[in-house]
Amino acid sequence: MATWSAPGKVFLFGEHAVVYGKPGIAMAIKPRVSVTVRKVRNPSKINSPYIENCFELTGVTGSVYIHSQLPSSSGLGSSAAVTVATLSAINDEFNLSLEKKDIADIAYQVEKKVQRGRASPTDTFVSTYGGLILIKDNKRRILPPENFNIVIGNTLVSHKTSELVEMVGEFRRTNPLVVDPILNAIEAVTIRSMHNFNNLKVLGRYMDVNHSLLEALGVGHPALTRLVNAARSGGAYGAKMTGAGGGGCMIALCPKRSKSRVAAAIEAADGKAIITTIDTEGARRE
Ligand code: MEV
Repeated sequence: MATWSAPGKVFLFGEHAVVYGKPGIAMAIKPRVSVTVRKVRNPSKINSPYIENCFELTGVTGSVYIHSQLPSSSGLGSSAAVTVATLSAINDEFNLSLEKKDIADIAYQVEKKVQRGRASPTDTFVSTYGGLILIKDNKRRILPPENFNIVIGNTLVSHKTSELVEMVGEFRRTNPLVVDPILNAIEAVTIRSMHNFNNLKVLGRYMDVNHSLLEALGVGHPALTRLVNAARSGGAYGAKMTGAGGGGCMIALCPKRSKSRVAAAIEAADGKAIITTIDTEGARRE
């Protein structure tokens, strides 16, 4: 029997723009998914297409038990975390000698298959390696970790990443003169943010700008606006939606002393708050 866990993720900057080759910054977060895999002769039917495909692609069979602290379909990368944790546990239980890079690659293949071609290689990468990740020229690399105090607000409004990505694509196809400058501005905010990791006030301001630019792309939602405003009034340096938008989650960058106040403000605005920070470990054996 082997139990492995893997973290979720948030986009700090640059979501949607990364789809067009622009840079982005993502971070692994503390809530995790843990998966236990056990070799069995006659495994019972598996209900998750992600887990089914993990077994299919590695050519083994077994039983699975999942324990998740991550809400699903909320933009926090829960399917990637389930997939990475399952593959890591399979690798361990069946002595497959897969390296982290192989786990990240196979996990992306699984996500692509289940999500019919549209999956984020960032989610599986971040969940495998942990830490702070720069996405640049469609490649991902690990940056030195930063101890940002983040409060996540879940709107509990479900959204479909593929539909939102498609919507932005359609907006860009029909209005390149309007949309390209927005994507360029998101790129500028992402690049400038990297030079200001030690200046949280400026970083917060950039989050506010990134949020408005995402709204300009058409992926905002009234519940996201409500939680973002609540977090700012609660004392956050800045706040923005994270991931695809249209519902899902927002994040607030907070002074350490204001984390609880910001979380309370989010809850008072009907959101579900998670106080978190960076996870530097990625997939790990439990
Ligand atoms: C979704 O978490 C982030 C998007 O940029 C899509 C992607 O990066 O694949 C909207």
